[in-house]
Amino acid sequence: MTDIEAKRPVRDFATDWDHTDPQWVHDPYPIWEDLRERCPVAHTDRYGGGWFPTTHEMVSSIANDTEHFTSHQVVVIQTKNPEGAPPAPMGGAPPITSDPPFHQIARRLILPAFAPGPVNALEGQVRALCVKHLDALGEVNEFDAATNYAQFISPGVIGKMLGFPESDEDLFREFVHLVLDLVDLEPAVRIPMFVPMAEYFTAQIEDHVANPRDDFTSYLLNVEVNGEKLSPEHVRGTMVLTLVAGIDTTWSAIGSAIWHLATHAEDLARLVAEPTLMTLAVEEFLRFYAPVTMARLVKEDLDFYGVAMKKDDWILLGFPAANRDPEAFVDADKFIIDRAVNRHAAFGLGIHRCAGSNLARMELRVAIEEFIARYPKFELADPSAVTWAQGQVRGPRSIPLRVVA
Ligand code: HEM
Repeated sequence: MTDIEAKRPVRDFATDWDHTDPQWVHDPYPIWEDLRERCPVAHTDRYGGGWFPTTHEMVSSIANDTEHFTSHQVVVIQTKNPEGAPPAPMGGAPPITSDPPFHQIARRLILPAFAPGPVNALEGQVRALCVKHLDALGEVNEFDAATNYAQFISPGVIGKMLGFPESDEDLFREFVHLVLDLVDLEPAVRIPMFVPMAEYFTAQIEDHVANPRDDFTSYLLNVEVNGEKLSPEHVRGTMVLTLVAGIDTTWSAIGSAIWHLATHAEDLARLVAEPTLMTLAVEEFLRFYAPVTMARLVKEDLDFYGVAMKKDDWILLGFPAANRDPEAFVDADKFIIDRAVNRHAAFGLGIHRCAGSNLARMELRVAIEEFIARYPKFELADPSAVTWAQGQVRGPRSIPLRVVA
């Protein structure tokens, strides 16, 4: 951390929010509730200036408005429009960084890989991965469910999908940490840190060009749009997106679900006793602990719900905050394991809605099914030792658990 100014503790999140502030990282929900009542669009001068809308209506309106808001940068960092970044409308990680009309082309070509058919075909592989990591725990009664279980599931799935070696999983977690967590570093410090990641992707692309195989990387290298292959920047950008979007998000969702069950014995007991509840429970885990917040940049000065937004202001697009809005959900602040009506925004809203939602839901369901089959009763061994990821993807990074006999 080199920007001392940006690390001032936050005194008022309404006028000076910082999503990397320890209070926000630890427990953002009371902050959002307070902001929703006091000033539905919070402001900050940090990160070069930005806004945080807190209601479902506002989040939805921005997510659906590609005329006034661009997805060119979806992670809030210290630099806007950095030099050398792939230009709009594609951006650095298509389709998530792409604006229309290019967005539709970039999205369409990845959707088949994440359709129900191919995803369902992966279920056996995901289950075997979960069982492997549970077996590896052996007979211990206390362990960390984040570092010994949750963090392994999605890297295993996505690494295999991209055709990357299983032995490189530690690297994937490092890349994700750099992209999503180390967002408050000064550019002079942060940018050089991307070199190993760029070299890794170059090596993988070269290997796949030399040895094409049946995986998502080879698909991207060979797929044609209007008779032409994708540009090298497009292939690389979508590979990076797949790795980043596919790993931290689902790992965080699995971790939050385990944390919830460890702290709510009645929900754990019900889920163990009534396995058919799992489909509704998964949706409520996603609503209540939605892990993903994305960003937009304001395209031109505009008035939004009475606030004067300026061109290039950040918008921190809080899908998790939208999910806790009492105007949008009955008993929004309560976790209801069998909530029947649950049109949550955890996978986003509008044209960028998560392309990997089938895969995410399946991984979350299978990971929890296998975990509670192995451990039908567990609790936190040390609540004060639980830590949460900083940045736009929220999930526990340490969950010390005790298995209860
Ligand atoms: C629980 C897990 C997940 C959550 C909560 C989640 C959430 C989201 C959200 C909120 C967006 C919208 C971003 C925006 O509006 O800017 C998004 C987009 C996306 N997600 Fe996920 N995601 C998850 C898992 C995955 C997985 C496993 C993949 C597979 C690689 C994936 C791939 C994508 C892609 C490609 C997009 C961009 C779609 C577009 O721009 O058209 N996600 N995700």
